[in-house]
Amino acid sequence: MKALVLAGGAGTRLRPITHTSAKQLVPVANRPILFYGLDHLAAAGVTDVGIVVGETRAAIEQAVGDGSRWGITPTFIHQPEPLGLAHAVLTAAGFLGDDDFVLMLGDNLIERGVEDVLAAFERDRPAAQLLLKKVADPSRFGVAELGPDGGIVRLVEKPVDPPSDLALVGVYLFTPAILDAARRIEPSARGEYEITDAIQRLLDDGARVDASVLDGWWLDTGKKDDLLDANRIVLGTLRGQLDGSVDAGSLVTGDVRIEAGAEVVASTIRGPAVIGAGTRIVESFVGPFTSIAEDCVIERTEIEHSVVLPRCRIRDVGRLEGSLLGHDVTVERTARRPAAHRLLLGDHAEIQIAEG
Ligand code: DAU
Repeated sequence: MKALVLAGGAGTRLRPITHTSAKQLVPVANRPILFYGLDHLAAAGVTDVGIVVGETRAAIEQAVGDGSRWGITPTFIHQPEPLGLAHAVLTAAGFLGDDDFVLMLGDNLIERGVEDVLAAFERDRPAAQLLLKKVADPSRFGVAELGPDGGIVRLVEKPVDPPSDLALVGVYLFTPAILDAARRIEPSARGEYEITDAIQRLLDDGARVDASVLDGWWLDTGKKDDLLDANRIVLGTLRGQLDGSVDAGSLVTGDVRIEAGAEVVASTIRGPAVIGAGTRIVESFVGPFTSIAEDCVIERTEIEHSVVLPRCRIRDVGRLEGSLLGHDVTVERTARRPAAHRLLLGDHAEIQIAEG
């Protein structure tokens, strides 16, 4: 059993963060999303892991390294253009050979491991085994239509008129039959070779496709609010740990991880929250469900339910919440006249200025 993790593609929905960096490396509780999937593979004993990379390949390769952190052996496979999940699988055909494999989308987060679904697949060996989850907005996903006996009848990708509220989760198990099916599909309306269509091909061929409803939460971190949600849920499982310093004038309550070299001065931190290595929090409030990455400075500011990437500077800005800040962002108050907001924003940035 091999694994294929998809970490290519273009993260258009998380722009502007992903104009310059890989969406799979956006941190949740200060760890790249991708790492949680690799944790699950390692825990299930799958060590031969292909990782499909695209234009952000250098960053992904650097983050995963030689895989020794997980005890896995990564093979990086370059997909020259993000032409769809089925295309990514075909790009990896040489790596996959004749082996069964678990396909994992590098921007998905699931709560529970994959051991059980792997065991079921190995026992019954259907051509494909899918995981489904009830969602409120199925038209954002691949959707499964089930027959009266609970078997899959049809799969549709991002339907305008969804036949059910059961979305396809980004973890699939396949025999090599999927490769042949993927070779026999056409691009979808959005111009991609969809894995959903390749699985539909297997169904049309009369092959066995099993599905079960996933236990535990599942998050597709494609959009800002999904990412903040993922951060909230993962921080909810955090245990407090103090490796940095907290001065006598500060108050830390709840589960808070303060990483090595971080400094909290005259501030209140209310967990669950993570303060990254080398970050300084001065005369500020960091509220629940906030992840501040490494080497940031936060002064005289309140921040809650937010994700802040490395090396941000936030000074005197009142209260921030529900925010996602990319690398090296500066937000500060100025006494300069005329008194006006001065912005230097990347493409697709989004600013909401509070009244008053
Ligand atoms: O999140 C679950 C959904 O993922 C499923 O319900 C859908 O059926 C499935 O098509 C997929 O939809 P998305 O539109 O969310 O996929 P996305 O383009 O975000 O790509 C998923 C991952 O695969 C992401 O880490 C990027 C990577 N990727 C994507 C493409 C299109 C590649 O490595 N190569 C590609 O060509």
